[in-house]
Amino acid sequence: MADTVVDRNDIRVPIELGDRRYDILIGSNLLARPSAWAGLPKASSAVIVSNTTVAALYASRLKAALAPLYPNLQVIELPDGEAHKDWATLNQILTHLLEAACDRKTVLFALGGGVVGDVTGFAAACYMRGVPFVQVPTTLLAQVDSSVGGKTAINHPLGKNMIGAFYQPLRVVADLDTLQSLPPRELVAGLAEVIKYGPIADETFLGWIEDHLGALLARDPAALAYAVQRSCEIKARIVGQDEREAGVRAHLNFGHTFGHAIETGLGHGEWLHGEAVGCGMVMAADLSARLGLLPVAQAERLTRLIHAAGLRLKGPSLGADRYLELMRHDKKSEGGEIRFVVIESLGRAAVRPAPDALVRQVIAAHTA
Ligand SMILES: NC(=O)c1ccc[n+]([C@@H]2O[C@H](COP(=O)([O-])OP(=O)(O)OC[C@H]3O[C@@H](n4cnc5c(N)ncnc54)[C@H](O)[C@@H]3O)[C@@H](O)[C@H]2O)c1
Repeated sequence: MADTVVDRNDIRVPIELGDRRYDILIGSNLLARPSAWAGLPKASSAVIVSNTTVAALYASRLKAALAPLYPNLQVIELPDGEAHKDWATLNQILTHLLEAACDRKTVLFALGGGVVGDVTGFAAACYMRGVPFVQVPTTLLAQVDSSVGGKTAINHPLGKNMIGAFYQPLRVVADLDTLQSLPPRELVAGLAEVIKYGPIADETFLGWIEDHLGALLARDPAALAYAVQRSCEIKARIVGQDEREAGVRAHLNFGHTFGHAIETGLGHGEWLHGEAVGCGMVMAADLSARLGLLPVAQAERLTRLIHAAGLRLKGPSLGADRYLELMRHDKKSEGGEIRFVVIESLGRAAVRPAPDALVRQVIAAHTA
């Protein structure tokens, strides 16, 4: 792919995946800027996939920028919400593509948060065995995490993200201006995934988040730009080493084993994904301490930051048996043994099994 042209003030983070390498562009007003879309493959048709909320805010801006490139440019509006990250929504996209006679060169643009990105990426992987797609993330969570790295999926009632594919986008275009319209609860949920990068990979970044939490919550553009950039740099490095999660990529799931149990146990959409991850990190840090890996003071430092960000510290009382049952479905489980991402010291993670008795102690300590 040709190198993308960006303005001097824009940030470009490359993901090195051989002939599937691509760039994450991070900057202001990117949606409307032709330079953000230059160099994408030529095609007669393109489809912007969004949801009812995001399309109303940003689809016309993106449409205006893409119209000169694609003669047949359409918009699909999906229903909004995690509860719609399912077969019905996937089918809605595929049916639209078939009805519109979209060919194999059709480019899909996923305009929205992680739900739109995950389901559109999966539709791109499935339609005619794969059509190109571009991630245009509009939530903090999607800009720092879900749009990057090629994991695409829908949920199944029995488990989150259980049906999906690894399928890389051509490019990620993260327009920081879109974060200004994000509901406060969504901003805070996204911060959970930003915080995650500190304990798993970069203690210095953890300190930076502690120092700039006020600015991040106030949506200071420079603070948001650095948070998105550093998060993407860390994720790009990890995905570049282990695209298919044979090893180190699993560290990105810190807090997610407990978190997915919360989301599935309550029904998808009850807690926001980031909220569940925030609480899951508190539990996983405590488990790391109880395993004798992480000093208690470091687990407490992380918990203080999660609390200061406005995230919940106590999980729902599903009962320890139910938590364990749900966590045995986790994709990291092997032969029914749950494997947890644990922190060995702030900035360094590992994947370990843990005795059920210890896990029960953690659940008892951190559920309401
Ligand atoms: N693929 C991955 O690697 C990966 C990683 C992390 C999370 N995820 C997935 O991401 C999903 C969560 O993503 P999310 O937190 O972005 O949730 P989301 O996609 O549901 O978006 C959150 C809400 O914000 C609205 N919204 C989006 N952008 C907006 C904007 N700029 N202004 C106003 N409102 C806006 C959406 O319509 C929605 O109501 C989960 O399904 C999770 O499993 C995937």
